[in-house]
Amino acid sequence: MQAKLVRIGLLGCGNVGAPLVHMLREEGAAIAARTGLELAVTRIAVRSAHRDRDLPDLPDGTLTTDARAVAADPEVDLVVELIGGIEPARELVLSALANAKPVVTGNKELLANHGAELFAAAEAAGRDLLFEAAVGGGIPVVRAVRESLLGEPVGRIMGIVNGTTNYILSQMTDGGASYADALADAQGKGYAERDPTADVEGFDAGAKIAILASIAFGARIVAGDVYHEGISAITAADIAFARSLGYVIKLLAITERIDAAGPNPTVAVRVHPAMVPVTHPLAAVRDSFNAVFIEGSSVGELMLYGRGAGGRPTASAVLGDILDAAGNLVRGAATPLGSFGPAAICPIDELRSAYYLNLEVSDRPGVLAQVAGAFAERGVSIRSMEQEGLGDEARLVFITHEAREADVQATLHTLRQLDSVRHIRSLLRVIG
Ligand SMILES: NC(=O)c1ccc[n+]([C@@H]2O[C@H](COP(=O)([O-])OP(=O)(O)OC[C@H]3O[C@@H](n4cnc5c(N)ncnc54)[C@H](OP(=O)(O)O)[C@@H]3O)[C@@H](O)[C@H]2O)c1
Repeated sequence: MQAKLVRIGLLGCGNVGAPLVHMLREEGAAIAARTGLELAVTRIAVRSAHRDRDLPDLPDGTLTTDARAVAADPEVDLVVELIGGIEPARELVLSALANAKPVVTGNKELLANHGAELFAAAEAAGRDLLFEAAVGGGIPVVRAVRESLLGEPVGRIMGIVNGTTNYILSQMTDGGASYADALADAQGKGYAERDPTADVEGFDAGAKIAILASIAFGARIVAGDVYHEGISAITAADIAFARSLGYVIKLLAITERIDAAGPNPTVAVRVHPAMVPVTHPLAAVRDSFNAVFIEGSSVGELMLYGRGAGGRPTASAVLGDILDAAGNLVRGAATPLGSFGPAAICPIDELRSAYYLNLEVSDRPGVLAQVAGAFAERGVSIRSMEQEGLGDEARLVFITHEAREADVQATLHTLRQLDSVRHIRSLLRVIG
């Protein structure tokens, strides 16, 4: 059988793009034998034409700095966007689709902010827009949610979807490092950027959970809808307390459907550190690994685990999408993206969770009753309490039953007014 040639225009040839070119060279013959598709990267757009890329034997004229020309080139059948960021990536993806080319991208920022516009353009063009690499790097979670679980009423998705923060928290948990030392170590190993804000403050995880929420609930959910708190305030003491209570601290990206099934769902979508019981599968996800834990009413619980970033794992996900899109193109088909209706976003104040609260108080009679009274006043019920003497002070550690966020915040407000409460060390949500 003569293999069908599909000519690929690659936009960006960096950490992910370069290994993708290598993989296509290494696996090209096997792919052609198995699928009948000959995938050839015929154009590559980069920012700097003079950078050394370790890509020998590129035919003359393959490399260009004119990405717009590649997106519109009639001799390119399929476009792979691996530039990142919003512009010019958005304009290039729209141009490729307008020129009837399927697009594969790994760009979470673009999808989490402009997904609706891009999905509409793909629908209008009748072409694929595939984005497996945008969430969870090499873990095939997008396809699992979009296709395998299409008929499943998904109730909640909880993910460890940022390898940098999981590495930092693992160093603090397993090695007893401080946050500052663990961050410096992550930067030294290339896991964290010099400016780590996007990772440690939860923006990166927020973009990913917005994408997962959109495809899981068929709703338009953007990065701006996501409530986020990062890990920079987590201390070694929090980690030690969590351990003594049978928990580990993880940065979780969570989305859940609050109302019953039906159109226009009410959805909660958030990123924050949380105490996870050591027996929960997510507690075992260490170092820079990622995992996505899905709860559905029929399928029950399932977890996908693997490398959430890195050049080759991410390129592997991109290659899977290229094969899907190329196969569809040859057949004149496209994978339907499904419809994305409006969603109501449940404000964080209305969400319910169990909480961990760590207070430093004066060590004198009556203080415990005063503190317990502040909880009772707001209907926040205490599940367990531990007390530790610290000279003329005492530490009180509470775990509450499930309570409304607004009631817990009001309790904190009351506690801050009490002169017996010296310091509120930390408040963390508890997953159970
Ligand atoms: N790296 C990962 O582990 C990972 C994981 C999951 C998803 N992703 C996503 O994959 C995408 C690519 O990430 P990456 O790590 O490969 O990025 P990267 O290493 O920074 O590579 C970006 C590439 O885009 C090129 N470029 C930048 N601006 C351009 C322009 N205006 N025109 C043409 N080319 C341009 C750069 O050219 P030069 O080489 O000349 O600078 C470079 O080759 C991003 O959306 C990222 O979020 C990455």
